[in-house]
Amino acid sequence: MHSDIAEVLFTEDEIAERVSEIGRAITRDYAHTADENGIVLISVLRGAAIFMADLARKIELPVEMDYMAISSYGNGAKSSGVVRILKDLTSEIEGRHVIVAEDILDSGLTLTYLLKNLASRHPASVEVATLLRKQTRAQAKIDCKYIGFECPDEFIVGYGLDFAERYRNLPYIGILKPEVY
Ligand code: XMP
Ligand code: MG
Repeated sequence: MHSDIAEVLFTEDEIAERVSEIGRAITRDYAHTADENGIVLISVLRGAAIFMADLARKIELPVEMDYMAISSYGNGAKSSGVVRILKDLTSEIEGRHVIVAEDILDSGLTLTYLLKNLASRHPASVEVATLLRKQTRAQAKIDCKYIGFECPDEFIVGYGLDFAERYRNLPYIGILKPEVY
């Protein structure tokens, strides 16, 4: 284990198993709705990229992968809900079935903004697959159809999640030692 990690929350094997389960659920849920164009998986760079890459390979339907980059104003550890689009989608999503892959749902402010933005493009449907949902006091009401794990209100890193761009490549998810940040 990395010496900056206080505790491993989810091991590599546990993550792989859960991501497979979500992939199977999506395959089942969309078997009859996804047309030959399939599903558009959207991830918000950069944290959700690893989750989406693994999830896409567990969905047995045609899948298109697209990316958005947004910056939320603030210090990076807490989001403000005021969001600026740095990179927009390449695909048109009008009439398509969209699944947004998120790394972690904290206050929900980022996702609230994003879902409103996506809805204005008139997709056939939009659902959210979040790998982690933090047990925080104040969370915007967001319907997440697919949730990987509930996690404690600590600073979490690994499997895509960073602190100052570090630790994204840890194969497990863990709590960062407070003295590191
Ligand atoms: P909100 O509060 O808008 O925040 O739901 C979601 C975004 O905030 C980042 N975030 C974290 N990143 N460890 C991280 O590496 C965390 O514990 C954490 N909590 C929130 C993340 O970018 C997420 O998309
Ligand atoms: Mg981050």
